[in-house]
Amino acid sequence: MNKWTKHDLLDLEDLSKDELELILETAKSFREVSSRDVKKVPALRGKTVVMLFFEPSTRTRISFELAAKRLSADTLNIASSSSSLSKGETILDTAKNIEAMNVDAIIVRHPSSGVPKVLAESLNPSIINAGDGCRAHPTQGLLDVFTIKDKKGKIEGLNVGIVGDILHSRVARCDITALKKLGANVTVCGPSTLIPIGIENLGVKVSYDVDEVIEASDCLMLLRIQKERQEDKFLPSIREYAKKFGINKERLKRAKKDMLIMHPGPTNRGVELTAEVADGDSSVILEQVTNGIAVRMAVLYLLLGTKEPEQKKKKG
Ligand code: CP
Repeated sequence: MNKWTKHDLLDLEDLSKDELELILETAKSFREVSSRDVKKVPALRGKTVVMLFFEPSTRTRISFELAAKRLSADTLNIASSSSSLSKGETILDTAKNIEAMNVDAIIVRHPSSGVPKVLAESLNPSIINAGDGCRAHPTQGLLDVFTIKDKKGKIEGLNVGIVGDILHSRVARCDITALKKLGANVTVCGPSTLIPIGIENLGVKVSYDVDEVIEASDCLMLLRIQKERQEDKFLPSIREYAKKFGINKERLKRAKKDMLIMHPGPTNRGVELTAEVADGDSSVILEQVTNGIAVRMAVLYLLLGTKEPEQKKKKG
């Protein structure tokens, strides 16, 4: 596979194995740009990328902005609180006004699942999903598999445990999709109230015993307990969760020596993992953040820099 044809990036479910591998290869080639003295290539000179975030973000927003800037694109940040959205304008009207200024891509994060898809169906700029509700966070899934491949040399045949709030996690969904397409064995683990019914249909195993999962895993992905998405009480207490599922140094003694500890962030130290595990030798949490820039450079480049003219006007 050497030709990219997609116009938007909404969900990893929309991508083939070849397309996933093309993004990972392209990211690998862009990674060294960030270690140069002058961290810039002209690949997207003249393109305009808009960040439209309706939810807080540290990693994703900054990473996309740096990725676009390192490709020489112009970038613009729009916060919902300081735009006319606060005066009652709809998201679609706001986005249509942004489109009218001839931008090339809109990167959107929203608490409601499906907002990026609605924008993609109505607008010509490429729409990139930076996280929508509990549904998808495709570039997080991509940077996670990039990091695993970088550290382990492969994805196929690896055992990956995903521990935590699977029910509310858009990261879990995208990680599972990417890992399964690339041939990993995935086990999800957490309190039964935070494991979606029927998740086995995605080809994953379910375990409620974190020690068993630690022993079997090559990589352990820890997920945050998402208090902001829990309308009902899914847990007796955070303290109870930390005791039963939190990863500490004692629990890590069961792990393979080279098992990776991963976390998409933000971490709750003392809940999903202790500070010494977060900062310990097994942790690649900050490498995930570093790799996020290369992966987002690859996504922006493939969507905006390799487009055939007929792909540009798909709507209207
Ligand atoms: N992993 C992640 O999406 O982090 P932010 O919420 O800081 O963007």
